[in-house]
Amino acid sequence: MKDELLKCTIEAAILAGNILKEGYGSSFDIHNKSGVNNLVTTYDFLAEKAIIEYITGKFPESRFLAEESGSTGAEEHDKLLWIIDPLDGTVNFAHALPIFSVSIAAQLHGEIVCGAIYHPLADELFTALSGGGAWLNGKPISISDNDDFKKSFLVTGFPYNVMKNPEYIELFVSIIREGIPVRRLGSAALDLAYVACGRFDGFWEIDLNPWDVAAGILLVREAGGLVTEFDKNDYSIFDRQLLATNGKIHNEISELLMKTMPKVEHLKK
Ligand code: IPD
Ligand code: CA
Ligand code: CA
Repeated sequence: MKDELLKCTIEAAILAGNILKEGYGSSFDIHNKSGVNNLVTTYDFLAEKAIIEYITGKFPESRFLAEESGSTGAEEHDKLLWIIDPLDGTVNFAHALPIFSVSIAAQLHGEIVCGAIYHPLADELFTALSGGGAWLNGKPISISDNDDFKKSFLVTGFPYNVMKNPEYIELFVSIIREGIPVRRLGSAALDLAYVACGRFDGFWEIDLNPWDVAAGILLVREAGGLVTEFDKNDYSIFDRQLLATNGKIHNEISELLMKTMPKVEHLKK
């Protein structure tokens, strides 16, 4: 069953990725969702529709939690749930910046069983199967082996409401003050996939949604990494503070994050 789910996840991600590839750089409608910089394009909707139709054709009993169409199907714990971000990195896509992805995960009995993140322009497909491992274009991947925090290469992201939460900016400052190179790519799914394959040693962000992270956290865990809240408690897809690392620099980065932003309940919308 798990293998069939993974196969369907991969096919749907590639299907949607090809739709995004076709649209990339063309002219399309762009709307604001909330605030002036949280965008959605024609292609977010097209890709999401294609994914849901494809999966429904293979697994008609499915429920969905998808960014643009929300939650569908009765809330039955046992039922197969697909968690979908049809276009992660919409702001990049809207500006023809070639960093964006499709992220799809399947959850069964409350457990994420498989996930795929596809970067169509790079033709990189990251996949993971719970208890089975993580792969990039079919080859096994694992987290980096750097255990020296000062030599880390990190990535982060900023929520659309970051200006209302200055302590989150402080948190970023506290890390770059250490002289550590930090990137901000604009696709949380790719950030996680890149931790999983060892390009980055760690990633943190607040206020992400289940569709941003469901496939990525499985990838990091299956590749041997650690995914927690800032305080090192186990992370689940509805939590608000995410810290994903190779495990070896986790304590140091968690300490720094906790000093600046111990409680995310303070987040202003
Ligand atoms: C966004 C991206 C970005 C992250 C934002 C997300 P979207 O997703 O993952 O990296 O910083 O918090 O909302 O809107 O492009 O699907
Ligand atoms: Ca997203
Ligand atoms: Ca999205």
